Amino acid sequence: MANKNLNAAKKAKKDEFYTQISDIERELQHYWPHFRGKTVLCNCDDPYESHFFKYFAGRFNQLGLRKLICTCYNGSSIQGGELTLPLFPKDEPKKKAHKLVITEVTDVNGDGVVDLTDVEYLIRNDKNVLSTLETGDFRSPECIALLKEADIVVTNPPFSLLREYIAQLMAYDKKFLIIGNIFAPTYKDIFPLFLHNKIWYGPSITSGDRKFRVPDDYPLNAAGCGIDKDGHKYIRVKGVRWLTNLDHNKRHEELDLICRYSPVEYPHYDNYNAIEVGKTADIPCDYDGVMGVPITFLDKYNPEQFEIIGIDRYVKNNPFPGKRFTIGGKEIYARILIRNKHPRQL
Ligand SMILES: C[S@@+](CC[C@H](N)C(=O)[O-])C[C@H]1O[C@@H](n2cnc3c(N)ncnc32)[C@H](O)[C@@H]1O
Repeated sequence: MANKNLNAAKKAKKDEFYTQISDIERELQHYWPHFRGKTVLCNCDDPYESHFFKYFAGRFNQLGLRKLICTCYNGSSIQGGELTLPLFPKDEPKKKAHKLVITEVTDVNGDGVVDLTDVEYLIRNDKNVLSTLETGDFRSPECIALLKEADIVVTNPPFSLLREYIAQLMAYDKKFLIIGNIFAPTYKDIFPLFLHNKIWYGPSITSGDRKFRVPDDYPLNAAGCGIDKDGHKYIRVKGVRWLTNLDHNKRHEELDLICRYSPVEYPHYDNYNAIEVGKTADIPCDYDGVMGVPITFLDKYNPEQFEIIGIDRYVKNNPFPGKRFTIGGKEIYARILIRNKHPRQL
């Protein structure tokens, strides 16, 4: 299964999954007004290969960006695959950490889009600067200085460092839109951010899997892997979610609740005072107590409609901290505890 691959990749610290432009476009369209006059940082992105770079460079003027900064980690494994690095001396190793700072974008061939030819031109424009970095590690002092300068951080960070990556965004109080996974809210250090509405899901991915390009030496030995028509290897990954603290309309849409509470259909947990709701669509409209819902509830979460109380393992009054809830002795998979702020009176 593709998300088994994701876990295996995480364990092996294989972080080379490259985001498709279509996934970036589908999500970013929900946030355009947030970007006017802003400095955007893509800090896990080789500007020569990253579609995040291509997206923001291509829409630099349309979005009204002030500045775009892309930093590339030492030794991105596809670096140089699409474009060579024309501005580095020939005898320097090809794989090196660098940053590209864009403050002016012109459509050089006048075709209305910034394509790969334009990227080379962009770098040659005196107002834009390509320079080397020590390591390009997002945690390094040189990258933290760029983080401080940025208004919004947008990227797909390394899967194996997601916790650390989010902790750093929080420490520097940054606006962000990043790719993560559906299990992120179950992490002890990340859940409190969902609880306190400091992070939520973006709207464009709520089910299915997503295709990511992987390096040419990536083993193709699992379901979901393949080679596309351009000869690039890819993997399809389940459970992908956008994580953000930028507001969007979808999180203010009310979930239409059509079920009614009955003690038979909504049993109590053995070890916690809440009812079990196995599917988000089945949340009863007339129940005013605490309900346990699957983590996919977060795809529909509207903070005006519901209050998040906690998550099973770590909720304050769990009699067996760290353990999940049971019904009739049977363990129930991860549950978020919520309350309807305006239950219907029937
Ligand atoms: C999941 S890939 C995504 C790449 C690109 N952002 C995209 O979406 O196509 C994560 C990238 O982060 C890079 N990376 C790994 N560790 C890093 C670190 N400590 N600092 C910055 N980048 C890192 C990897 O080399 C990899 O290219």
